[in-house]
Parts: sequence; C-alpha cells; structure tokens
Amino acid sequence: MKQKAVVFDLDGVICFTDKYHYQAWKALADELGIYFDEEINNRLRGVSRMASFEIILERYHGEPMTEAQKEACCTKKNDLYRELLKNMSPADLSDEVKETLDGLRAKGLKLAIGSSSKNTPFILGQLGLGDYFDAVSDGNNITKSKPDPEVFLKAAEFLGMDPKDCLVVEDAEAGLDAAIAGGMECAAIGEATKCGKGTYNLSTFADLLKI
Ligand code: BG6
Ligand code: MG
Repeated sequence: MKQKAVVFDLDGVICFTDKYHYQAWKALADELGIYFDEEINNRLRGVSRMASFEIILERYHGEPMTEAQKEACCTKKNDLYRELLKNMSPADLSDEVKETLDGLRAKGLKLAIGSSSKNTPFILGQLGLGDYFDAVSDGNNITKSKPDPEVFLKAAEFLGMDPKDCLVVEDAEAGLDAAIAGGMECAAIGEATKCGKGTYNLSTFADLLKI
C-alpha cells in the first residue's frame, strides 16, 4: 500500500449497526404514522442523524414540524438506538476485521476512524476497541456530514498526516464522495462497491492486506 494510514468508516465497515438503526427509526416512524422500510433505511447509510430524519420525513403528511420538534424526534430515536447498542459486545467484532486491523498495523500503517456517528465512542467501547485506533474523527467533531470531506480531513489532521497519504475504507457512496472530495483514495466494501467510485473494490475486509 502506498498510503501511510487507513481511515475506516465505522458503521457497515468495522461493525454492523444497520439493524439497530432500522429498529429505532422504525419505532419512531410508526409512532408518527410514517411509512418506513429497509429500502428507505439503506438511503440513511453514511448520512447524519438529522439528514436521515429529513429523508424519513419525505413520507410524512402531518403538520409541518418545527426544528425543536425534529430535534426531539432525533433524540428519541437516539435514546432507543443507544439502548439497542447495549446488546453489542466484543463478540460483534469479527475475527477477520480484528486480524486485518492488526495486520495493517504490523505493516506500520496508522489506523483511524472517520465516522458521521456521534455514538462512535460508545460503539468502539462496546466492541472493545475504545483505545485501539491512533485517531478518531466522528460526528462529534464535525459541522458538515459526508459527502463533505470534513470528517476524513480531520482524521488525517489528528493523525498528523497529509490526506493524500490516507486510504479511506467505506460502505456508503456518500463516504466515497467525501474521500474523493478530500483528495484521498478509497476502498469500497459492501453496497458501496456497486457505484464504481472506489479506487479499489473489496470483496472481503481482509482484501485490504493485498492493496
Ligand atoms: C453513520 C450511519 O455512520 O452514522 C448513519 O451510517 C447514521 O446511518 C450516522 O445516521 C449518524 O449516526 P448517529 O449514531 O450519530 O445517529
Ligand atoms: Mg458506513
């Protein structure tokens, strides 16, 4: 690998929180009488919490909501989401992911997280990765969500690296767009491989060791 560091998206790359996001959004949508399904949930990948709610509100036919009401809805969703995240444990970190991370580190690469999620510290703690990464850039230190490159540029800055020396790993098209906008090469995994924007398409997480 020509890069000196790898910046990983969290949800859908290091771990799989989709089902918890889905359950929590579904509960809120049901309460508000909004149609919501797995297909709409797929559109929320990589997108910030409020931007996700705006997508869900496309199917809302009630009285227009104030910003304060929207915030209250997002807080309600997040409270339930965090309850569900308590089910996560180090057993949810696959051997493949852990061994690949260790393998990349053994090659001398710096490892960072670049996630839109404000729950990143909590999730990393649940997975037993609280102290693992050399830098963590997440929803708590950004003002603009993916596809803006801010979260990845901050990750590079926290590592003390030039963005072009960082490879981004992403499962969302919005994340690939963010990496490209930040001048970084990117490895697509899962759903993101379909859009053809990745510098590399990974069939498995362990393929990172072959770059
Ligand atoms: C991203 C997820 O990592 O984080 C999105 O892919 C989610 O689905 C976003 O909306 C924000 O997460 P949180 O935990 O701050 O609500
Ligand atoms: Mg993701």
